[in-house]
Amino acid sequence: MPPQIDRRRFLGSVLLPAATVAAAPALRPHRARAALERLADRAGSPREVARDESFWHTVGEAFTVDREHINFNNGGVSPAPAVVQESLARHLAFANRSPAHNMWRVQLPEREAVRADLADTFGCDAEEIAITRNASEGLQICQFGLDLEPGQAVLTTDQDYPRMIATWKQRARREGILLHQLRVPDPALGDDEFVRRFVRAMDRYRPRLVLMCHVINLTGRILPVKAVVAAARERGIELIVDGAHAFGHFPFRQADLDCDYYATSLHKWLFAPFGTGMLYVRRSKIAGLWPLMAAQVSQRDDIRKFEEIGTHPVGLSLAIGEALEFHRLLDPERKLARLIHLRDRWVTRLTVHDRVRIHTPLEPARSAGIANFRIEGVEAGALASHLWRVHRILVCGIGHRDCTGLRVSPSVYSTLEEVDRFCEAVEGVLTSGLPS
Ligand SMILES: Cc1ncc(COP(=O)(O)O)c(C=O)c1O
Repeated sequence: MPPQIDRRRFLGSVLLPAATVAAAPALRPHRARAALERLADRAGSPREVARDESFWHTVGEAFTVDREHINFNNGGVSPAPAVVQESLARHLAFANRSPAHNMWRVQLPEREAVRADLADTFGCDAEEIAITRNASEGLQICQFGLDLEPGQAVLTTDQDYPRMIATWKQRARREGILLHQLRVPDPALGDDEFVRRFVRAMDRYRPRLVLMCHVINLTGRILPVKAVVAAARERGIELIVDGAHAFGHFPFRQADLDCDYYATSLHKWLFAPFGTGMLYVRRSKIAGLWPLMAAQVSQRDDIRKFEEIGTHPVGLSLAIGEALEFHRLLDPERKLARLIHLRDRWVTRLTVHDRVRIHTPLEPARSAGIANFRIEGVEAGALASHLWRVHRILVCGIGHRDCTGLRVSPSVYSTLEEVDRFCEAVEGVLTSGLPS
């Protein structure tokens, strides 16, 4: 367990003075505390626990979500459990008592414990982790921070995140770099074919940089990062991994990817506060990567140069510690097993209908809690609007030439009943069409 983040302190943070709790009436710290104690003691394999509804009911109680909505867009952004919300409120309240002292002299040094904890979870050195405001910031540090000459090429896919593609396009307009986008092969062609095509594109375009996703946001497909990293390294090409949807979603470590640059959101699958992210940069690469906001030359080799963003609420970073502890108490393997259990429940039920198409490979390790589907003959955007308007079910509509559909991402607080209501709503459209 990393320094300063022990279980007692974590649970202690749940028991707040009445005044703090009164400021945030929606929170239920006593329930959250009970939930955490049960989580920590539960025996059983991930598969068994994934099917234990009373366990997941208790997990659900640790959140403060609006049950009038069925939120199946947790891939977009996740709610934080009450313990994380309260931790944030407590840190902000403490900072506001005397910001120049409490925030800069007390909280900033405390952030080092969170850095160490993130590094421990990712499997790297603490001096290789920067805490960012989101995945976009971490990725843009890499996308803007590696020098490119006019005419030099960058390779990515046509299923990478629009903001990251827009970043390359802006560099193309401003600096004359070249952008190449590989079309992602059909999942049925498998990971080997994906790697073959990526390597072929590297040999053809000879890019200086590659950007690839660990998990494609459109479909939830997990890509074979390590093999592409190895092929890029052999060719002297730098490769940036967009891990926005991966960290906290399913267990993996830096060594499983062997990448040099990795950026992720923490407000998606780790359940940290909105506005938190993490950037990993291999130690030997830090000096060669420019920060987005200028830093002193003395910080050239220091990972903290990427955090030189001016005044910002340090409490956001500190509350990541609570999210990491929640994640551990939940157990990453159990969390993954539950997410797959929920996904399989709706996928199995809906694919009985022959007009339902799934755009996500469902084999183990090729996706986890997210999947994308469409109904043949029903416009995806209209279906998403219908689910929200009529049933208060929130999913993410995807428009892309190869995977137009609905991206569905329940979370650990979602119930089987919510999954079933979603299936019934979709089946209603399969039977009767969309209301005109
Ligand atoms: C693949 C991918 N990359 C980057 C991002 C941006 O993440 P953030 O909002 O944390 O900046 C997202 C957001 O959904 C994403 O799906």
